[in-house]
Amino acid sequence: MEIAVVQAPPEGVEADALVFPVGDPVALPEGARELDRRVEGRLTRLVDEGELKGDAGALTLLHSDGRVVASRILAVGVGNGADEADRLRTAAAAAAARTRDVGGRTVAWVLDPSTQLSAEEQARAIVDGTAIGPYQAGRWKTDGEARAVVERLLLCTPNGEVADEARRAGVVAEWTNRCRDLVNAPPNELTPERMAAWAEETAGRVGLSYGVLGPDEIRSAGMGALAAVARGSDNEPRFITLRHEPDGARDDVVLGLVGKAITFDAGGLSLKPADSMEDMKSDMGGGGAVLGAMGAIAELALPLRVLAVVPACENMPGGHAYRPGDIITALNGKTIEVTNTDAEGRLILADALWHARESGATHLLDLATLTGGMVVAMGDYYAGLFSNDDAWLEEIRAAAEASGDHVWPWPLHDTYRRYIESTFADMKNSSELRQASPILAARFLQEFTGEGPWAHLDIAGTAYLGRGRGDYYTGSGATGYGVRLLAELARRLSSP
Ligand code: BES
Ligand code: MN
Ligand code: ZN
Repeated sequence: MEIAVVQAPPEGVEADALVFPVGDPVALPEGARELDRRVEGRLTRLVDEGELKGDAGALTLLHSDGRVVASRILAVGVGNGADEADRLRTAAAAAAARTRDVGGRTVAWVLDPSTQLSAEEQARAIVDGTAIGPYQAGRWKTDGEARAVVERLLLCTPNGEVADEARRAGVVAEWTNRCRDLVNAPPNELTPERMAAWAEETAGRVGLSYGVLGPDEIRSAGMGALAAVARGSDNEPRFITLRHEPDGARDDVVLGLVGKAITFDAGGLSLKPADSMEDMKSDMGGGGAVLGAMGAIAELALPLRVLAVVPACENMPGGHAYRPGDIITALNGKTIEVTNTDAEGRLILADALWHARESGATHLLDLATLTGGMVVAMGDYYAGLFSNDDAWLEEIRAAAEASGDHVWPWPLHDTYRRYIESTFADMKNSSELRQASPILAARFLQEFTGEGPWAHLDIAGTAYLGRGRGDYYTGSGATGYGVRLLAELARRLSSP
């Protein structure tokens, strides 16, 4: 999507739709006064008659018939209440979808100087909604509607400063959609090997250094946990690393991003029931977010050293599969009794987190579709955030809220360590107690994070939607959760 800022008056802008936001209760914004005059007060009359509504996503479309240069004027409701940025994203998504549905390709948005949000924040939300909202997941339909999207977004504002922010948001939104394509890809197509190929191709395109380990190298490196999970499948595992090492980066921080990439989670011998298995192609959503974010970070040339580690494999039953009762040794030498082969994500992350720390990461953050308990607890809007360091947690929380990828902090008290006490080994990977499963999983990961700040995001509920969310995520499937968050975090760390 091409993005430009237009400082000239909106009535002269060439577009398929000239869009302005309306609050609830309805009031025409400043920027729509001149438009209203051009259409001889029709907008005011629609407001007076109660036909032009301001509730979130409400659309009122007028043909301009030459009274302004744009072909259509489109009023879109932003509603009221908390989180104005998300409401603006939703409005932008609705406006983009409507423009596309009438065959339009260019949207011009009139920014509103009278709201709580700065022009930069508005620009960002509008870019997000316009690019992320109309995304179509049906790439594999043979009669698929062409994936028509808005091709050009014009932001009408006297404030030329927003151009930079809008461009940046556009880059990040595009990588968000690439991540969605990756997560939506079926597991027969997106094997660990193919995921590594995607990473390699991305690295070549944006200038990251790429590394990969195959099954033999994983085993001989001592990654016994990843090797154990991978054993049940004929599709080989890959241990993927990407590095962004720009000149002029600060020398005190290496951001270590770790993403769970189970390309299909059948549960292994602790087999999942069919209805829980159906969406398990999305169990690589953490890895997908990390790879997508690395693309954005490199394309934006953020002056920060970043290391990405993505362990990728399938979790399958079979004659070679690891068993409940097996005791395995992770990369840091700790032993783990496997009590449930379906608690596989924490195992592959154990090796990956330790590797990231050993490779010099000062600040660790992992993303994982880790527990069903997180879906039950927080649903599809907030991811659960855990950390061993309050300042690091705050930094991530602030970046998350600014990005639109929302997080909610969870506790990580040491008393939860007893949940993973094992009779035979240093720890076990699950508990028979049906208690606090997201916290138990986070506490398990903590055993492998070494010295220094680490945080964990359980994105089981936010990475992939069984049905639309009723906001700018209108459909089901992958959300690209985490790409915006990680890009924002990297930006903040690169200019402290
Ligand atoms: N990938 C799943 C978690 C998951 C569930 C993600 C639903 C998205 C939607 C994970 O590997 C898993 O199976 N977790 C189990 C662990 C349990 C067997 C100890 C869980 O949380 O139920
Ligand atoms: Mn599982
Ligand atoms: Zn899993």
